[in-house]
Amino acid sequence: MLMHGRVPTLILAGLLISLATGTSAQPSIYSALNSTANATFFYSSLSDANLATVFSNTSLNLTLLVPSDAAFGALETQLNISGDLFFLPNLAPKAAPILLYHFVTPSTPSGSIPPNISSFNLAFGSSTLKVNSSVVGNSTVNSTVIRISSIGSDVNITRTDISAGNSTIHILDGVLLPFYISIGSGLSRNKDLSAINSLTNKLGNNTAFLNVLNNLNTEYTVLAPVNSGLPLSLVKNGSVVTVVSPTGNATILSSFNVGLTGSGSYRSAIHLISQILLPPTLTTVREALSLRNDTKTFISVFTSSGSSYASWLDSTSLSRSTLLVPTDTAFATLLAQYPGYTLQNLIAGSTGVSQLLDLLVIRSSTISLAGLANGITNITVNNGAVLLRANKSSSTGAVKFLSLANSANSVGSDYYIGRVESGVTVIIIDTVLLPQPFNMGADGASSLAAPSPFAMAFCSVIAAALLHAFGRQW
Ligand SMILES: *[C@@H]1O[C@H](CO)[C@@H](O)[C@H](O)[C@H]1NC(C)=O
Ligand SMILES: *[C@@H]1O[C@H](CO)[C@@H](O)[C@H](O)[C@H]1NC(C)=O
Ligand SMILES: *[C@@H]1O[C@H](CO)[C@@H](O)[C@H](O)[C@H]1NC(C)=O
Ligand SMILES: *[C@@H]1O[C@H](CO)[C@@H](O)[C@H](O)[C@H]1NC(C)=O
Ligand SMILES: *[C@@H]1O[C@H](CO)[C@@H](O)[C@H](O)[C@H]1NC(C)=O
Ligand SMILES: *[C@@H]1O[C@H](CO)[C@@H](O)[C@H](O)[C@H]1NC(C)=O
Ligand SMILES: *[C@@H]1O[C@H](CO)[C@@H](O)[C@H](O)[C@H]1NC(C)=O
Ligand SMILES: *[C@@H]1O[C@H](CO)[C@@H](O)[C@H](O)[C@H]1NC(C)=O
Ligand SMILES: *[C@@H]1O[C@H](CO)[C@@H](O)[C@H](O)[C@H]1NC(C)=O
Ligand SMILES: *[C@@H]1O[C@H](CO)[C@@H](O)[C@H](O)[C@H]1NC(C)=O
Ligand SMILES: *[C@@H]1O[C@H](CO)[C@@H](O)[C@H](O)[C@H]1NC(C)=O
Ligand SMILES: *[C@@H]1O[C@H](CO)[C@@H](O)[C@H](O)[C@H]1NC(C)=O
Repeated sequence: MLMHGRVPTLILAGLLISLATGTSAQPSIYSALNSTANATFFYSSLSDANLATVFSNTSLNLTLLVPSDAAFGALETQLNISGDLFFLPNLAPKAAPILLYHFVTPSTPSGSIPPNISSFNLAFGSSTLKVNSSVVGNSTVNSTVIRISSIGSDVNITRTDISAGNSTIHILDGVLLPFYISIGSGLSRNKDLSAINSLTNKLGNNTAFLNVLNNLNTEYTVLAPVNSGLPLSLVKNGSVVTVVSPTGNATILSSFNVGLTGSGSYRSAIHLISQILLPPTLTTVREALSLRNDTKTFISVFTSSGSSYASWLDSTSLSRSTLLVPTDTAFATLLAQYPGYTLQNLIAGSTGVSQLLDLLVIRSSTISLAGLANGITNITVNNGAVLLRANKSSSTGAVKFLSLANSANSVGSDYYIGRVESGVTVIIIDTVLLPQPFNMGADGASSLAAPSPFAMAFCSVIAAALLHAFGRQW
């Protein structure tokens, strides 16, 4: 449990402050809290955050919404933080904004809270808390519940009208949070983001994307288009349907913090933006690869004289293909396995290059990391055989490609050339996938000569049979 054994010391600290500021006939908020049952954690945290003096002022006319000790204790689990953020002298001042979020103005006894929806004005800051005072259940047997909604939480008042001089204390069953606990919670709680929230929910519950959104520890900056900025329109002209997206620049409309660390800083941020942002439209493979600085070797191989794909680099009419592009480091690692061979050897060995590119260039289907289903997907390459598989992790979303000879991990995200889903995707990989133990080139490579087409087909059959037998291990 949170900070057992610390409370006596903290009360002692409170005593010293009390002596220093003196007492008056009318209790201050601070001294009233001291004698309020189940408010000891809030009381202690005020002094640890250096706020004792402020709330020892007997002239204040405020309402305190005080999380009970049990509610405070549950916060560590709720936020997945360890350590006494609210109680360690070096950290507690950072938690002051969260504590101050529990003071509203003016002093409002429960009898003065109007039925149904109203709002409280924060005493420190310009925003408000939503209040819903209503009977849940049967009005004959059930009494009114007052529910308060903060940015990050909804809590109930469980005890009302504790007098604190000219102020009033109400006890809560949860902590009011001036931030969202996770990105997913922010998307679902913010009514201006309901459209993008329903889109993300459609991605399914087990996708890595949702895991990221709902993980309390993730650290991202999210640019979330508000409802009015989300729609893409479909324009049909004859049989051609074009997706029209908003043009121009998005502006940030408002910003929210997300998640708290044990040291009092926020983990992520959600900025509400005026319209959806789409990745730049790429028209050629060259344009896509120019966005990276680690694919120079691939470009040499792709456009070498032995390649049948050289004309693809600047073509604007490619469709339904996928390029798996190994990084420069991946090629360097491959060459290092064959001492004495150079990239020129590789390129000169035209059979080797064609074989390699026939595996790395998947004609006939547009595969994307984002679009792959979790688990194993068989990929049919150019000769119609399954020589390649993708395995997408349901927990991390990482995709591993497996050939008959080796495997490679995807790096970063997809690049789309032309139309998403029917154009070309470029996927960067960290290893040069090999169709089979690889023929490095004609030059001096007789011992590694390429097998005949028949031998290859035979190998595929054997491999397919083996894969069938050990299917689940792929
Ligand atoms: C808090 O309460 C204790 C006794 O419960 C009392 O000795 C102390 O003076 C109080 N402190 C303040 C600041 O009122
Ligand atoms: C204090 O909290 C405990 C445990 O949550 C509860 O049983 C008790 O009734 C509370 N006391 C008051 C005065 O609300
Ligand atoms: C508390 O409010 C009453 C009534 O408004 C006022 O007479 C009194 O001076 C206030 N107390 C302080 C300490 O300001
Ligand atoms: C006490 O609170 C009153 C009312 O908010 C304010 O006018 C006064 O300046 C405060 N006194 C101190 C010492 O902060
Ligand atoms: C509400 O509770 C009362 C008392 O138990 C009962 O007589 C009445 O039928 C209930 N009303 C409804 C709508 O359930
Ligand atoms: C309504 O009151 C009944 C009887 O006290 C209780 O069992 C029930 O949980 C209450 N319903 C709600 C929604 O609070
Ligand atoms: C808080 O109030 C809401 C209705 O406003 C109710 O549905 C919920 O059960 C209450 N929570 C607790 C813990 O009583
Ligand atoms: C607190 O402020 C409200 C609004 O200004 C005022 O109506 C009320 O009389 C004040 N209460 C006290 C005790 O001064
Ligand atoms: C996700 O899970 C929730 C609760 O289990 C369910 O209501 C919702 O329909 C699920 N969504 C999808 C897309 O499966
Ligand atoms: C978008 O912002 C950039 C940078 O400020 C500016 O150069 C460009 O003209 C803006 N585009 C539109 C359509 O407003
Ligand atoms: C390539 O780009 C990455 C990040 O975009 C950068 O960290 C790296 O230093 C760059 N490498 C070279 C060789 O420019
Ligand atoms: C992939 O292909 C193998 C045979 O090569 C087959 O056993 C397996 O069922 C296929 N898996 C999928 C998901 O189609």
